[in-house]
Amino acid sequence: MRCLVWRGSAGQALVKSCRKRFTVLDHLIKRRRVLMSLRDDAMKVRENAYAPYSNFKVGAAVRATDGAVHQGCNVENIAYPEGTCAEAGAIAAMCAAGGSREIAEVYVIADSPTPVPPCGGCRQKLAEFAPRDTPVTLATVDGAELKTTVGDLLPGMFDASHMERT
Ligand code: THU
Repeated sequence: MRCLVWRGSAGQALVKSCRKRFTVLDHLIKRRRVLMSLRDDAMKVRENAYAPYSNFKVGAAVRATDGAVHQGCNVENIAYPEGTCAEAGAIAAMCAAGGSREIAEVYVIADSPTPVPPCGGCRQKLAEFAPRDTPVTLATVDGAELKTTVGDLLPGMFDASHMERT
């Protein structure tokens, strides 16, 4: 009878608390795995950058809300302004894939002394497809990381609300 009481109340509470802890742990592990793979994807695609003029290779990986990861690298041109950034490449790959076009997370990496900040144009491009609170990790190949959001990268951004009178 005592055993039944233990099973019925304290036992259940223990099981519940363990389950809760495991759920939190599981969430943290999954999140770390997602972040690690985004870093791996950005690092890997960086190797394919075509940057003979600047010698500055950049890799970007975006995870869309459907879970798909899209990669991009910078592609330069002898007519310098025609070059494209890594972030633009990742966004183009996301649209071309035909799945979700909403960005859930961004990772950008370069061999820079400090975590590489996206240029102004790329900030606007990211804002087109990502809510303001979307996490963005800026990184160096050495392992330094700076975490920010799309909104913090582009305060006072131009958006659809500014065109309400048209
Ligand atoms: N670059 C990117 O790909 N992303 C950025 O956000 C910053 C700059 C590229 C463009 C160019 O090919 C090289 O880095 C040097 O500016």
